[in-house]
Amino acid sequence: MTYVVTENCIKCKYLDCVEVCPVDCFYEGDNMLVIHPDECIDCGVCEPECPAEAIKPDTEPGLESWLSLNAEYAKSWPNITVKKDPPADAKEWDGVAEKLKYFSPAPGTGD
Ligand code: SF4
Ligand code: F3S
Repeated sequence: MTYVVTENCIKCKYLDCVEVCPVDCFYEGDNMLVIHPDECIDCGVCEPECPAEAIKPDTEPGLESWLSLNAEYAKSWPNITVKKDPPADAKEWDGVAEKLKYFSPAPGTGD
């Protein structure tokens, strides 16, 4: 199994998750992060760190498309291990429904 970053990360991108990961397996897109499923060791410490509750174990039902998205973009986005400031409007986007349409495939800047 692996942990997966899901929809509510989009445009929230709080970045609290990256500093606790013992294997540095978060990768940064323009407006969300993903976890590399082959690098994640399933420790679970990132899950409670996310203020947006966007990190889930892939054992939860219905996360197949998010697992695919994490696996795909972890291959090309840059690694991120150090927390930066979240977007200024992160709180306004927290909990907004159907955010997938705002997903950006562009890479972030990484560390
Ligand atoms: Fe990193 Fe552990 Fe979260 Fe996997 S579950 S992304 S290894 S902190
Ligand atoms: Fe996203 Fe939560 Fe990390 S909003 S950047 S998964 S702390």
